[in-house]
Amino acid sequence: MTRTLPFFPPDLFETDRATLLEIVHDLGTGTGQRFILGEHTARFEQALSGTLDGAAVVTCGSGTSALTLVLAALGIGPGDEVVVPAFGCAPLAATVVSSGATPVFADVRPDTMTLDPELARAAITPRTRALMPAHQFSVMADMPAFEALAARHGLRLIEDSAVAQGAVLDGRPAGTWGDAGVFSFVQVKSFGMPGEGGAVVTRDPDLADTVRMLRNHGQDGRQRFVHHRIGFNSRFDEVMAAFQLRRLPGLAGRLARRARIAEYYTARFAALPGIQPPPAGRDGRCFYVYCLRTDRRDDLAEHLAAQGIGTHVYYPAPLPAQPAFAPYARPGAVWPNADAASRSILALPVYPHLTDAEIEHIADAVCQFAGNRKDIEP
Ligand SMILES: Cc1ncc(COP(=O)(O)O)c(C=O)c1O
Repeated sequence: MTRTLPFFPPDLFETDRATLLEIVHDLGTGTGQRFILGEHTARFEQALSGTLDGAAVVTCGSGTSALTLVLAALGIGPGDEVVVPAFGCAPLAATVVSSGATPVFADVRPDTMTLDPELARAAITPRTRALMPAHQFSVMADMPAFEALAARHGLRLIEDSAVAQGAVLDGRPAGTWGDAGVFSFVQVKSFGMPGEGGAVVTRDPDLADTVRMLRNHGQDGRQRFVHHRIGFNSRFDEVMAAFQLRRLPGLAGRLARRARIAEYYTARFAALPGIQPPPAGRDGRCFYVYCLRTDRRDDLAEHLAAQGIGTHVYYPAPLPAQPAFAPYARPGAVWPNADAASRSILALPVYPHLTDAEIEHIADAVCQFAGNRKDIEP
């Protein structure tokens, strides 16, 4: 009998529990009593930099905060426009609004559900300061196209790589494509942890210094209570830094397991009528979630739930259809691909500790729903 498979597994950190408790004990009883921005944070930033071709890494309070810090560091604010995808997570639009700038929504591609470079180009006006594409679910946005577009129009490029830490596109790691990229370490992400946290990644040392100041109330780390800029409280937690340092060596293995599960699902679903798996391949992929598309989304979710399989809908509405962001939608603008995605998308469990029997059970249930085959080994 297969166990119930919730979409958000409660045992994500089960094997690291002893490590976590040991770190809490050591830091809690240590003589330093330093709980933010200490030696563990510095070592964690260095270790991440080593996975990112040496780009600077500045950890901070969350992925949302990382976007906020980048926008502020780039001086983006009132009167400016930032092109964002019409389909995606709320921080894409919210951080732009909070900066005082205006989000300009452009539709996503129908296959990858990432910002369409051609539609982003069409959304550029004399007020546009930056493009902010986001990697989505398992697929990186078309960063070479956005890099070329940003260069052609003299725009900043902010890479929302919150969900894609560990992905590599054309040999270049996610996070290192734009003027700056961001990561989120919230529990469910590819390098999630049991707490809130994020990071800014940049190859620009001056931008890194500015972000470092902004995350700690505009102080430069040398002199306390001298505030060079109006900043934020977006500091990184020492317990989480020490925990992530211990888990970093296992990240590649966990990502590879996610990719293998995804490949198996995609092979099982490729010929199913009415089911569209995400684009196959490994280049520019990171299986933070596995999202398929089907016109019968709610029926499939119900069918899987009846077999103890949890699913999740990312995202039930395009961003400009949300009450908070509708006022920023350009009159007459439409997002047919974002609309279609929000009606048809369904995410399946893809966490690395799923067993082969469990993923087979999940794939069987989807195939059963679509009335099809069971002829591929996990
Ligand atoms: C694409 C994207 N950007 C930004 C964020 C924000 O990250 P956080 O939840 O750490 O604030 C998320 C996750 O929620 C996300 O999925």
